[in-house]
Amino acid sequence: MTTFQEKDVGVLISEEAVQARVKELGAQITRDYQGKELTLVCVLKGSVFFAIDLARAIDLPLTLEFLGVSSYHGGTESTGEVRITTDVSKPMAGKHLLIIEDIIDTGLTMSFLLENLQARHPASVKICSLLEKPARAKTKVNIDYKGFVIEDKFVVGYGLDYGEKYRNLPFIGIWKHA
Ligand code: IMP
Ligand code: MG
Repeated sequence: MTTFQEKDVGVLISEEAVQARVKELGAQITRDYQGKELTLVCVLKGSVFFAIDLARAIDLPLTLEFLGVSSYHGGTESTGEVRITTDVSKPMAGKHLLIIEDIIDTGLTMSFLLENLQARHPASVKICSLLEKPARAKTKVNIDYKGFVIEDKFVVGYGLDYGEKYRNLPFIGIWKHA
């Protein structure tokens, strides 16, 4: 714990544990989507690290799409207001979509995304989230593939940020100053 970012962050889920879980999820998705054409819809920016590792753990032909949303304005509280800032590059009709998220907290972002993507007539839509923070849920979201359930702490690392920083930590940590 000597790097400049790690002095602000305590390890919650180690790099090894994250990587092992990503491999398990990848194997499960590989089994479930046999014979189907899978499209991973990565929610920018938080899910990028997870989505890229997960994509490499899935042994199927797949395509990657990126969807930018903003539900946050720099602090540690969700505002509940969700906007699409960058849309996917292809029509989603007829595709098997797997939305890849970093964390489901209040669930408001994911509810918005589900509704938005369902309106584009895909063949199916499922949800894969690395983390779930059930203590703060405001709406029920059924997570088809879930990495870890965590307590009500603000976390950073492995894609998750505080004020755009700490995304490049290889583990999931608790931000000490929340
Ligand atoms: P929700 O709409 O409240 O479910 O929030 C989802 C989004 O808020 C996530 O995609 C994250 O970008 C962000 N978020 C929620 N909790 C945390 C956290 O503990 N650390 C960093 N970002 C978070
Ligand atoms: Mg996010």
